[in-house]
Amino acid sequence: MDLIEKGAALIREGKLVVFPTETVYGLGADATNDKAVASIFEAKGRPQFNPLIAHFASKEMLHDFVEVTPMAQKLIDTFWPGSLTLVLKRKENCKVSYLASAGLDTLAVRMPKHSIALSLIEKAGVPIVAPSANPSGTISTTTAPEVEAVLGDKVDLVLDGGPCSVGVESTVLLLTNEPAVLLRPGGLALEKIEQVIGPVIRPDKDPECPRSPGQLSSHYAPFRQVRINATDKKEGEAYLGFGPCDFQADLNLSATSDLTEAAANLFHMMHLLDREPFTSIAIAPIPFEGLGLAINDRIKRAAYPKRTIK
Ligand code: TXA
Ligand code: MG
Repeated sequence: MDLIEKGAALIREGKLVVFPTETVYGLGADATNDKAVASIFEAKGRPQFNPLIAHFASKEMLHDFVEVTPMAQKLIDTFWPGSLTLVLKRKENCKVSYLASAGLDTLAVRMPKHSIALSLIEKAGVPIVAPSANPSGTISTTTAPEVEAVLGDKVDLVLDGGPCSVGVESTVLLLTNEPAVLLRPGGLALEKIEQVIGPVIRPDKDPECPRSPGQLSSHYAPFRQVRINATDKKEGEAYLGFGPCDFQADLNLSATSDLTEAAANLFHMMHLLDREPFTSIAIAPIPFEGLGLAINDRIKRAAYPKRTIK
C-alpha cells in the first residue's frame, strides 16, 4: 500500500495525518468525525477551539456541505485549486462536525493546490479539516522535518511533499454577506481577488465600514443564558452533564469523564439544548486539564450575560 493510501485509511479510522499543501503543512482529520476533530485540538495543545478549514478534492464535492453563493462560485472558478479559503453558510444537513465550525453556522472551505493533498482527500472520501501543523502559539511548518520535530509524536503519519511552494497560509474571505470581508490576508493577493469580485471590506483598514453586527464574530454564543459550574438543575433549565450525575442530566458531554469525547460533543449538544422548552442551560463543572482548558474557555464565553433574553 502506498503512503497516501495508508494516510487515507488512517483518516477514515479517525486518526491524525499531516499532509503538505501549497501554503503550509496541515494537521488533518476526517471532518465528519467529532472525536477525530477533537483530537486535532488535543495534538495542537490549543487552549481555545478556533474554527477549522475543511479541505476538498473537487469543486463539486463542496455542494453537499455549504451554500455556494454566486460570488463564491466566481472565486472558485477563478482561483481553485489554490490559496483561497471561503467562509460560507453550512447546509442544513452538512455532515461536517460542529466542533470544526466551533459551533458557528458557517464553514471555511478550500481546495488546496497540491497533488498529495488532493489525492489524500479523494482516497479518504471525506473532506479533511486541517489547521496549520504546528503546536498552538508557534509558527506554521513548511517542511516535513519541521513537522516531525514539533508534532511527530502526536500524529499517526506525516506525508512528506517537500517544501511548500507558497509558504504562508491561505487568504480567508467571509462570503456570507456582500461585500466580502477579508478575515486573514494570505497566499492569494487581495488585489487579485478584487479584480474578480470588486471591493472587499478590510476590517484592519476600514473600521468605519458598515457591516452587520456580529458578522465578524468567530464565536458561537447560544441564545439562552448559560450557567457554568452547575451542580444542580433549576426550574426551566437544561442540564448538560459531565461524568456521573446524581440526577437526570438532559444530555451528558461524557458519562465516563473523557475530555476528548466531551469536546467532540460540546457544540452539538449546546445547539440541541438551546431551544424550547428550556429557558437556560446549566453546565456541569469541567476539569481544567487537557482539552478541559478549551472547553472551559468556550463555555465561559457562552455564559457572558446576554443583552436580550427571549
Ligand atoms: O493555508 C491554510 O489555510 C492552512 C492549510 C493547512 O490549509 N490552514 C490554516 O488553518 O492556516 P488554521 O486553522 O491555522 O487557520 C484557519 C483560519 C483561522 O484564522 C480561523 O479563525 C479561520 O481560518 N476560520 C476558519 N473557519 C472559520 C469560520 N467558520 N468563520 C470565521 N473564520 C474561520
Ligand atoms: Mg495556524
